[in-house]
Amino acid sequence: MTDDELLDLARKVRNKAYCPYSGFSVGAALIDDNGDVHVGCNVENAAYSNVSCAEEGAISAMVASGGTRIVTIAVAGGDRDERSRACTPCGGCRQRINEFADERTRIIVKDDDEHWHTYTLDDLLPSSFHL
Ligand code: THU
Repeated sequence: MTDDELLDLARKVRNKAYCPYSGFSVGAALIDDNGDVHVGCNVENAAYSNVSCAEEGAISAMVASGGTRIVTIAVAGGDRDERSRACTPCGGCRQRINEFADERTRIIVKDDDEHWHTYTLDDLLPSSFHL
């Protein structure tokens, strides 16, 4: 699967986001070490702190299917019903990705001008916490 195809999946699942409180929809699509693809979108809740991020959903699906490492994860987000803009994972999701990343894991987003930005987890979360 190409990066463009993976990002398209993230954009597509973004349309399914449940985000009545923030109005900000996010989609994530990842490829795991088995070559399987998993997607997730944000799911909000009337008790605001119970929000589940898009990356979180995709990672949960990966773990449930037996994947152990993220090869590439694409994220797309923006105001609901508007086109995506550069949306890098939040701090909590950087730590979630960290759990299943290695130095080759790529986090990919496109900015407002459709230019690619590719990061490693170390770019986004240097000196990260590990047990
Ligand atoms: N959100 C994500 O799904 N992933 C991120 O990495 C950043 C934030 C969601 C949470 C919330 O529903 C909305 O975006 C606004 O913060």
